[in-house]
Amino acid sequence: MYDVKAVRRDFPIFDNGLAYLDSANTSQRPRQVTGAMMEYFEKFNSNIHRAAYHIAEEATDRYEATREKIRAFINAASTKEIIYTRGTTEAINLVAYSWGRANVKPGDLIVLTILDHHSNIVPWQILATANGANIEYVDIDDRGELRQDQFRELLEKQPKLVSFSHVSNALGTINPVHEMVAAAKAAGATVLVDGAQGAPHQRVDVRDLGCDFYAFSGHKMLGPTGAGILYGRRELLEAMDPFLAGGDMIKTVRVEGTTYHDLPWKFEAGTQAIAEVIGLGAAVDYLDGLGMDNVLAHEREVTDYAYETLSDIEGLTLFGPPPSRRAGVISFALDGIHPHDLATIADRDQVCLRAGHHCAMPLMTRLGVPATARASFYVYTLKDEVDRLAGSIKEAQRIFK
Ligand SMILES: Cc1ncc(COP(=O)(O)O)c(C=O)c1O
Repeated sequence: MYDVKAVRRDFPIFDNGLAYLDSANTSQRPRQVTGAMMEYFEKFNSNIHRAAYHIAEEATDRYEATREKIRAFINAASTKEIIYTRGTTEAINLVAYSWGRANVKPGDLIVLTILDHHSNIVPWQILATANGANIEYVDIDDRGELRQDQFRELLEKQPKLVSFSHVSNALGTINPVHEMVAAAKAAGATVLVDGAQGAPHQRVDVRDLGCDFYAFSGHKMLGPTGAGILYGRRELLEAMDPFLAGGDMIKTVRVEGTTYHDLPWKFEAGTQAIAEVIGLGAAVDYLDGLGMDNVLAHEREVTDYAYETLSDIEGLTLFGPPPSRRAGVISFALDGIHPHDLATIADRDQVCLRAGHHCAMPLMTRLGVPATARASFYVYTLKDEVDRLAGSIKEAQRIFK
């Protein structure tokens, strides 16, 4: 296990006593990440893949080095399977557009879940409307876990695509992703896993998972905004048309037509988020240095503690499964206090708490609530910050009594 207090010293934002409990939204970034980006800006700022001078070679090498780091991080077979995107949202849109428009036919079924984030719902709704497909959603049980019986029934209808989140950002539910991918593949579906809340928090092995696509965002794993990843199985990516078109994704362009670049660059049109990708590489180095098993163990410990601490507060309802089957996310409601009011009171105590629908409106409707308050944890979270949250909750209860 690593020393959390030492880790926190790498994050200047904590210097003034901020309790940041919103890492599922976006994580903080250590000096190593911002430093790698600043080094690019100050020492070899230039465009990649295009110039012969040495700083552009350095920029290109560092940009491409992140690809190998990510490949190893998720154990993909090849760097050709690692596509840079702006984040999970763009990665899923890429698949919905490039794979979906060509492969999903009228009457086909797409299976999603009621736990999903809007980025794993809306792109498929647009595709379904465009191509005449249908969508069905796997429901949850009373503990906020997917109803596997219903999932199996939907698989009997032989869906063309199954797409679901590794971990729910709103409830923290860890889905049985291995079993679900295996069952969906056995039913003949193409499978996308939304790993926005998966890859940052636990060891992911895409070959072991067996999914066709896995999407995640750098900014939720200590990296900057604007750099994310789509992993795709090579055969599928080879067969797909580009998503965006323009510079850098081509081999030859003639007035009669264009030939596309090889993977992965076929999907990386235009000038890329170079500094951000380099920053993401530094974030992967940082996580590798901590060890993903340690990251998971640390979050488990904080989550267990938070679950216990919040359970003891009267008038507080916790949503979602028990700590053993949830990631470092705790959603809750307080009797008679709107989550936004709680978040405002917490902010006065320098406690950053998320309140809202968490981009999961179908789930909120299913739970029968307009919003929840959500605390989420990461590599740097201290139990002391959980205590401070409990203090803010009690203060809100006192004020609203
Ligand atoms: C489960 C899940 N999917 C997708 C996203 C979208 O990620 P991004 O906004 O980085 O594209 C998020 C972000 O909160 C998420 O939690």
